[in-house]
Amino acid sequence: MCDEAWTLVPATQVPRSRPTAVVTLGMGGSGIGGDLLRALLHDEASIPVVAVKDYRIPSFVNSATLVFACSYSGDSEETLAAYDEATQCGASCVVITSGGDLLRRARERRHLTVQLPGGLPQRTALPYLLVPVLGVLTQMGIVGSFEAQLREAIQILQQVGAEQGREGATLVQRVAESLLHRIPVIYSTSPFLEPVAQRWKDQLNENAKTFAVWNTFPELNHNETVGWGMDNALAKSLVVVLLHDPHESEHITRRVTITRELVFNKAASVQEVSARGEGKLARLLSGVMLGDLVSWHLAGLRGVDPTPVPVIEEVKRRLARSG
Ligand code: F6R
Repeated sequence: MCDEAWTLVPATQVPRSRPTAVVTLGMGGSGIGGDLLRALLHDEASIPVVAVKDYRIPSFVNSATLVFACSYSGDSEETLAAYDEATQCGASCVVITSGGDLLRRARERRHLTVQLPGGLPQRTALPYLLVPVLGVLTQMGIVGSFEAQLREAIQILQQVGAEQGREGATLVQRVAESLLHRIPVIYSTSPFLEPVAQRWKDQLNENAKTFAVWNTFPELNHNETVGWGMDNALAKSLVVVLLHDPHESEHITRRVTITRELVFNKAASVQEVSARGEGKLARLLSGVMLGDLVSWHLAGLRGVDPTPVPVIEEVKRRLARSG
């Protein structure tokens, strides 16, 4: 998917103006790409990158803003409303979708459209929602080429996938087993992996149909750590999953060790998972893939079907009915 997604951007139609900010619009499985982009470009882009998950766009958006409207189905009402506002502001818009109203509006407005293959559950299409954004930004010269990073990421993802076929309990199975009948508490040990922690939570919700929470170091040391003063019996229902970055600084490692000694000993268990690779894209996507696999295994252990998300669909249906 990563490979194919890189080829989906038509080079000739990429906007040529130099934006003063990049904004992504998208919800849920189509919105997390924006969070990953923000982490990826944090120390890479010389302009702000903002992920919007709302009907409204921030007031700074104007004709100098580059907006990516991302909705796999093309029918999320929040993304459609925000896209309409961005269009009214004269922003340069790029649309990433497989169809729906978003595709129709993008064609009418002659906005650059990356049309994705249809028929997938939205959250499984993540590479299609993220990689074309990197392609556009690369072609516009806003960032250096991500192609080498993408190649490394694909290799690492293939390795992670291959490990799953091997005999014996894999890390993924062990972590999934530890989460059975518990509430997963996903902590990224650095803000860089924050969107990965969020994706783990989202996938545990949608695939394993279970409640989960997430947070990140160092911020959690300034509030949530105190919350571990909860009743011991409550804490025993929690399992902490620490998401490590291979490039984690020693300072962060010390911080995590101290916090673990002070408070996490109250949890049912603490699981440690490390992202893989050198480049940022490989580290982010391998962290995502490990979480996706854990959520899928946990669905099996819980005896639930990972694919359908009837509550999400029902909310959308009722909203559509009520106009
Ligand atoms: C479903 C999923 C959801 C959707 C969200 C937005 O698989 O992951 O989080 O992504 O409801 O819908 P789309 O992506 O079609 O804009």
